Amino acid sequence: MLIKHRKASDVLGSEITPKSVFDDRRRFLKTAALAGAGLAASALPSLPAYAARTKLDGVVKSKWSAESLPEDDPINSYEDATSYNNFYEFGTAKGDPKDNAQDFKTSPWEIMVEGACAKPGKISFEDLIKPATLEERIYRFRCVEAWSMVIPWVGISLGDVLKRFEPTSDARYVYFETLLDPEQMPGQRAPVLNWPYKEGLRIDEAMHPLSILAVGMYGEVIPNQNGAPVRLMVPWKYGFKSIKSIVKIKFQKAMPPTSWNEAAAREYGFYSNVNPMVSHPRWSQASERRIGELFKRKTLMFNGYEEEVASLYEGMDLRKWY
Ligand code: MTE
Repeated sequence: MLIKHRKASDVLGSEITPKSVFDDRRRFLKTAALAGAGLAASALPSLPAYAARTKLDGVVKSKWSAESLPEDDPINSYEDATSYNNFYEFGTAKGDPKDNAQDFKTSPWEIMVEGACAKPGKISFEDLIKPATLEERIYRFRCVEAWSMVIPWVGISLGDVLKRFEPTSDARYVYFETLLDPEQMPGQRAPVLNWPYKEGLRIDEAMHPLSILAVGMYGEVIPNQNGAPVRLMVPWKYGFKSIKSIVKIKFQKAMPPTSWNEAAAREYGFYSNVNPMVSHPRWSQASERRIGELFKRKTLMFNGYEEEVASLYEGMDLRKWY
């Protein structure tokens, strides 16, 4: 995400990177320079230890598996998808989440489900995913910063999960919240956003078959930098709607606040549907750079999912409801 004015929500990487990590990097650069001069090779610090990769069992193919992808939409590499991230709780630079989230504790994990529903309560991550089928869903992912990727997620239908809590007729919207834990999430020690990270969907968007809770990617447990242990994935919306490391879900009557809308309302609306015809106030959304490709691609309406989701917005002025 890019922000125009320097204010609480606009910080330099060095300010939000935890001091110990920042100092380590400076030490690394200094030592590397010395080593280059043949002076201190033995003093080189080791690189961050990345968590082991774990295969997920029982993943089934879905309607959105590889066969359904057009040929000109190749899957991005695991390396691209797990090292070029936005997860401001771990720093604002694209490489920060991979470097800083490795020790993030994602088990045990609970999600509080509350608000307008008949069966509110806390649910463990295991109970959340146990009765569900883990499906492979290969989705285009379009960031509001005009880059994109194609990623094979492993997830469960969000609508199926929400129905278990029996939302009432007052549940017109669903609110999601990320963990608040500045001890573990160094980015939360600076006022980059109003922490915790918040997002929301209209109930029909949340119930749409394309909306999933992702718990894996590339057939493996989702890496911490990608939002472990559970994140939202709504492929027809800009990437910032897909909130990571969710600990709270609330059914409510009123449209919920969202982090980026609170930070810059003119730039980030509640709906945030991918729309090449509505520019961001500071850049066009008509094209995008697919990570790993040289030439830009045209951005597709609703990120290419128009047939599936356009009916959700019938009669709405999408310039007003951006
Ligand atoms: N969720 C939380 N909690 N914190 C964040 O900073 N960044 C959002 C979204 N979800 C973000 C988040 C943005 S701006 C994008 S583009 C996507 O996550 C990035 O997901 P990725 O790193 O898996 O590509």
